[in-house]
Amino acid sequence: MTALKHYLQFKDFTREEYDYLFERTRWIKDKYKRYEPHHPLFDRTLVMIFEKASTRTRLSFEAGMHQLGGSAIYLNTRDSQLGRGEPVEDAAQVISRMSDLVMIRTFEQDIIERFAANSRVPVINGLTNEYHPCQILADIYTYIEHRGSIQGKTVAWVGDSNNMCNTWLQAAEVLDFHVHVSTPPGYEVEPERAGLYGTGHFQQFADPLEACKGAHLVTTDVWTSMGFEAENEERMKAFADWCVDAEMMAVAAADALFMHCLPAHRGEEVTAEVIDGPQSVVWDEAENRLHAQKALMEYVVLGRVEEK
Ligand code: CP
Ligand code: NVA
Repeated sequence: MTALKHYLQFKDFTREEYDYLFERTRWIKDKYKRYEPHHPLFDRTLVMIFEKASTRTRLSFEAGMHQLGGSAIYLNTRDSQLGRGEPVEDAAQVISRMSDLVMIRTFEQDIIERFAANSRVPVINGLTNEYHPCQILADIYTYIEHRGSIQGKTVAWVGDSNNMCNTWLQAAEVLDFHVHVSTPPGYEVEPERAGLYGTGHFQQFADPLEACKGAHLVTTDVWTSMGFEAENEERMKAFADWCVDAEMMAVAAADALFMHCLPAHRGEEVTAEVIDGPQSVVWDEAENRLHAQKALMEYVVLGRVEEK
């Protein structure tokens, strides 16, 4: 039996696998735009488990699975036994006997790792406290669509060193680009995590303007991620100067893009002028969740498909 292809962190795949996935995403997207059906997952079932809220992730996985010929079932903590203390290992055994693929959005990374260890089918991370690999997959695809290869380029991350930031750091290692991170004091990338990325792909800056200098992509995210709501008030004060504005975009490369995984808070982590401005590609970025995850689902279930 071949090993299951789980996608729990960005570093689970190699650069060659990403090259394949980006090419496949383009092919799947083009076909979709021509209204040509593509049903490689006919009759397959995706189970989506949400322990946190979602608009884009639910929509893109559910619509994506239908478009690939299969069906998707939505479970949340409130209406299933998952919220009533059933061990994650037991849930994994049962859910994976009735489905072909599982996507989970949850809290600690450990939960999804334990689920995957007990699953008979591939498991995809739809966001944990630590990582959001599907989002970065779509973001890098979006960068490639607009500007070509990301290799050797610089991404400026302004704001919280959260699940998105951690995933950018992993991606920089796998795909060989640079990440400039600027966070308020006390919110820096954890030293153990930073230690993993000390090979020239990652640099921290106290001043967000410095982090943006010459960057090819400027990106940010909410000041308070899901699960950290109790810290909201103190974060609002601490992050006040970490708002991506026109001044930051002006010191970035002349053709720099702006991205945000959404949902966004205009006037907090980004000004309306930037997110609604000409350098912003946030709507393409959101749409590309659909196309990139269709390529991902096809890949983890069927492996490489060379259909042209
Ligand atoms: N970007 C993202 O994952 O959005 P949702 O929380 O709406 O799924
Ligand atoms: N960092 C955010 C991303 C939301 C898509 C969160 O975890 O809430």
